[in-house]
Amino acid sequence: MITILTWYGHAALGLETGGKKLLIDPYFSGNPAATIGAEKVAADFILVTHGHGDHLGDTVAIARRTGATVISNAEIAGWLGRQGLKTHGQHLGGGYKHPFGYLKLTLALHGSGLPDGSYGGNPAGFLLTTNDGKQIYMAGDTGLFGDMKLIGEEGIDLAVIPIGDNYTMGPDDALRAVKLLQPKHVIPIHFGTWGLIAQDPDAWASRVVKETGAQVHVLKPGESFEL
Ligand code: NI
Ligand code: MN
Repeated sequence: MITILTWYGHAALGLETGGKKLLIDPYFSGNPAATIGAEKVAADFILVTHGHGDHLGDTVAIARRTGATVISNAEIAGWLGRQGLKTHGQHLGGGYKHPFGYLKLTLALHGSGLPDGSYGGNPAGFLLTTNDGKQIYMAGDTGLFGDMKLIGEEGIDLAVIPIGDNYTMGPDDALRAVKLLQPKHVIPIHFGTWGLIAQDPDAWASRVVKETGAQVHVLKPGESFEL
């Protein structure tokens, strides 16, 4: 079984696995890096790491159009549910067997306020075990934290982590994160969208390759990686 991960720019990801199409943090409208519009993407499930506009993005419009189920923390799931969307709320440390695999919410050091000022609960990352046993860690927006070592102990095949700095880990801490997570493959995201988070992903990739055992895949928005 092949799992295909597509980066749509910023933190927006597509994941095809187990015959299902997932979107993670579907920020298309207003995303200067996006290569496709919100009205074009397909989704069976939408995963939202936290409430910020550059992650919640077009969740409401896409879920209304596609009928996708939105998975997020209980507070965001509740807020979306009150807007008539189909939702599944989970919380940090909790996992659930969905049709596309076993999804666990992980710690993220960040904020989560919703666009209308509503409380967005705690921000999260996602650890997905696909139906054929591959482990994909999508860190969400986060600073470096030592418990990434615990996540790494689960045996990570692919880690998708922010390197943009200012709002999240920058390149130095993201390199330390790779050392804690020890993934086989790593993809950097949440950089280059705006000047404030401009980074050189190839320079970062060289350091990661030199100092860790991970393979780095620097994608351009719209490009995919097959796991
Ligand atoms: Ni954020
Ligand atoms: Mn963000």
